[in-house]
Amino acid sequence: MSISALQQEIREWLARRQAILLAHNYQPPEIQDLADFLGDSLGLSLTASQTPAKMIVFAGVHFMAETAAILCPDKTVLLPRLDVGCYMADTITPEALRRRKAELPGVPVVTYVNSSAAVKAESDICCTSANAVRVVNSLAADRVLMVPDKNLALYTARHTAKEVLFWEGCCNIHDALTAAQVQACREAHPQALFLAHPECRPEVLALADAIRSTSGMLEYVRTSPATEFIIGTEQGIIYTLQRQNPGKIFHSPSPGLLCPDMKRITLEDILTALKEERYRITLPEEVRQKALRAVTRMLAVPRD
Ligand code: 13P
Ligand code: SF4
Repeated sequence: MSISALQQEIREWLARRQAILLAHNYQPPEIQDLADFLGDSLGLSLTASQTPAKMIVFAGVHFMAETAAILCPDKTVLLPRLDVGCYMADTITPEALRRRKAELPGVPVVTYVNSSAAVKAESDICCTSANAVRVVNSLAADRVLMVPDKNLALYTARHTAKEVLFWEGCCNIHDALTAAQVQACREAHPQALFLAHPECRPEVLALADAIRSTSGMLEYVRTSPATEFIIGTEQGIIYTLQRQNPGKIFHSPSPGLLCPDMKRITLEDILTALKEERYRITLPEEVRQKALRAVTRMLAVPRD
């Protein structure tokens, strides 16, 4: 079946199931084009929490569908494949976090949404790359523990007066980007601005003209008078950047900026998911309730 025929059939099934398709900015072009909502982790969580749809089909990775299941217990949340993990989310377990908390009594835990529901359930509040500094500043404590992304924690520490303790986790895709790769790309494209995701290493962020979440990058480029950009995040976003800004030029500083988990779901998977209502993402109610407190608390932090 052609891509457009598959997309048409998926649209019909979405309507039949009263479903909405949510997709992350790193998804392949044919899924981005089809999505009812395309966004970063914060936008996806907000949309899941507000949609009147009966069913949410998630084109992203496992923790994103789990976040929808945390927020929407009365909706059916489908993830078209189960083998879409996240390297970073796997760098922490609830048991390991409980042990660390025991060493730090009274220190609130701020957990990046790139984590399992069970880890969120052990946390005081969640954050995303779009709101980490605001979330940390919203807390009364002078000292916080941020998990699991060390790079996001170090970035946040530079933008808050609070002491930020970190966990030794990272995204292997963003952490592999080196300052030398960025500098080489800058030399090849001296007019270009460099935009970086806060999951990049500190020495890479030090070279950035702007540090943003994926949707933050889309907004930055849309409103910037500059016409050429080096994009320091997963390459999937370049499709939307190009579509929204046909006159502008984009470069990736490294061929390694490709997340295999974000590329696994296909249109065929989405169609099968809708027809067979698979794979339903559900959580033990106790875990869901505890994780919900941390996610809801994050969503209540005012946006700038
Ligand atoms: P955003 O929330 O910025 O889209 O990031 C999600 C992610 O997985 C980055 O690697
Ligand atoms: Fe996880 Fe990194 Fe892939 Fe984002 S890019 S989903 S943090 S492995």
